[in-house]
Amino acid sequence: MKIGIIGAGNIGARLARKLAAGGHQVKLANSKGPQTIRHLADEVGATPVTKEDAVADAEVIILAIPFASYRGLANLFEHVAPEVVVIDTSNYYPFRDGAMAEVDGGKPESVWSQEQIGRPVVKAWNAVLAETLEAGGKPAGAPGRLAIPVAGDGAKATQTARQLVDQTGFDALDTGSIEDSWRQQPGTPAYCTELTIGDLELAVEAAKRDRAARNRDALMKEFASAGTALTHEQIVARNRSVTA
Ligand SMILES: NC(=O)c1ccc[n+]([C@@H]2O[C@H](COP(=O)([O-])OP(=O)(O)OC[C@H]3O[C@@H](n4cnc5c(N)ncnc54)[C@H](OP(=O)(O)O)[C@@H]3O)[C@@H](O)[C@H]2O)c1
Repeated sequence: MKIGIIGAGNIGARLARKLAAGGHQVKLANSKGPQTIRHLADEVGATPVTKEDAVADAEVIILAIPFASYRGLANLFEHVAPEVVVIDTSNYYPFRDGAMAEVDGGKPESVWSQEQIGRPVVKAWNAVLAETLEAGGKPAGAPGRLAIPVAGDGAKATQTARQLVDQTGFDALDTGSIEDSWRQQPGTPAYCTELTIGDLELAVEAAKRDRAARNRDALMKEFASAGTALTHEQIVARNRSVTA
């Protein structure tokens, strides 16, 4: 498939590498311009482009940018055909993105995302840590394969997203509509907790809407005070315990 990835950081670059290795034609864009990611794009097997080029003939567009950066992206989608699948990997962190009253008031993050760009999104890869994405993937059917939640409204779009998730080394769990996608947001039991598909399904069901933001902020406070002292395993363990 022709895949345009906007955002060439922790998530975008890792997805570019995996999807290019899977045989897809991947274009990669950032905000500073293609000349700044030439070496990276070369290394991961993608073509460095402007974000306008990334969406121009894509069949799938993956947005791997900070949540606040969705503001002002609407024009980019003006000429993108309706059948093009748009995948949202973002998460809202008020300390990083600035407080957003609507989302603080309970609007699911990806509902807000799709309002910014004026078209539906599928939410995927938001609930996997970059390190897990890098090293935690396994071939389909392998014992202990981890799973990633995928939410969205169009059957074809969500199926495409689930197939791509599978190609990046993870089982894809269909978690329902974008309205329900708060169940995989930061501070929920499904968020970055490295679970297999059966356990992930239970975690998604166990999510408590009124607790997620508090859990998220408590975790962030803890991670900030620990600095670089926490290992990846400790971060996952804390994600699991705070949201249990
Ligand atoms: N890190 C994780 O473990 C993780 C896990 C799951 C989901 N996520 C979510 O995934 C998203 C990306 O996270 P990240 O850690 O990959 O971030 P990151 O490393 O900071 O990279 C962000 C990328 O987005 C680009 N960007 C920002 N604004 C843009 C714009 N308006 N147009 C085009 N490109 C833009 C940046 O380009 P420039 O450098 O040129 O500005 C950069 O390449 C976030 O919403 C995050 O919450 C992160």
